[in-house]
Amino acid sequence: MSAMRLSGKTALITGAAGGIGAEIARRFREEGASVFVADVNRVEGEKTAASMGAVFIPLDITSEESWKAALSAVLERTGRLDVLVNNAGINIRKNIEEMPVESFDAMFAVNVRGPFLGIKHSLPIMRAAGGGVILNMSSICGLVGHKYTNETYTATKGALTLLTKSVAVRYAKDNIRCNSVHPARWKPPSCRPCSGTPSAGQSDSAKCPSEGSPAPPTSRTPWSTSPATKPRSSTAPRFL
Ligand SMILES: NC(=O)c1ccc[n+]([C@@H]2O[C@H](COP(=O)([O-])OP(=O)(O)OC[C@H]3O[C@@H](n4cnc5c(N)ncnc54)[C@H](O)[C@@H]3O)[C@@H](O)[C@H]2O)c1
Repeated sequence: MSAMRLSGKTALITGAAGGIGAEIARRFREEGASVFVADVNRVEGEKTAASMGAVFIPLDITSEESWKAALSAVLERTGRLDVLVNNAGINIRKNIEEMPVESFDAMFAVNVRGPFLGIKHSLPIMRAAGGGVILNMSSICGLVGHKYTNETYTATKGALTLLTKSVAVRYAKDNIRCNSVHPARWKPPSCRPCSGTPSAGQSDSAKCPSEGSPAPPTSRTPWSTSPATKPRSSTAPRFL
């Protein structure tokens, strides 16, 4: 068996109560990391954390105060933060003409302000420790426009992609790597309602984004749809 690659490392993963975040948390645990499952959903978050020997931490990523409290709790417990995974994200599936401005703001608050705040408050901790890794969960929608996802979600993920690049270039000197991940589609074991062919009257955004594309790999872990994620979570490579 190969050595665990994250032994001695501490990782905070947002939106890890379920979905992709929970699978990332599980893989990090398998690689030996101390993991903080951070989420607004306490009930599911506590269950998920307990199932893998991780620690649940309440966090609303849209709130600066909540970030400060969560990071203080991490430092109090482990004294370090090696990896921040900004995974939490939401998608309110309405095309631009039907999108209420409140929903637009809510999506930017979670998908952009959340990672912004997480990065802002993690950088000083990582710099003081001599380095760290920040992973931002963008999307294929953060790279290209297409008709299967609404414009607001695409705009939030595009913003996250460029936030990642600009942080990466500014903080490389501090040995802090910042990368984004761009999954096309990931199906949880209980397939979400938005997947599949839309019924009559549903918009294109309600359609599964990868409909018509080759079937996803058999494994349902996020690593199978995004193999680049796993090596990038390692603190071994100096820069990507
Ligand atoms: N599922 C996909 O096919 C897919 C594809 C590309 C990108 N993504 C991105 O991957 C990430 C995870 O997606 P998922 O499908 O697992 O989502 P999900 O809806 O299954 O899980 C999201 C988690 O984020 C949490 N969350 C929501 N708002 C929060 C807040 N303000 N503070 C803290 N936690 C909050 C939720 O409670 C939930 O546990 C998202 O950023 C999403 O945009 C998903």
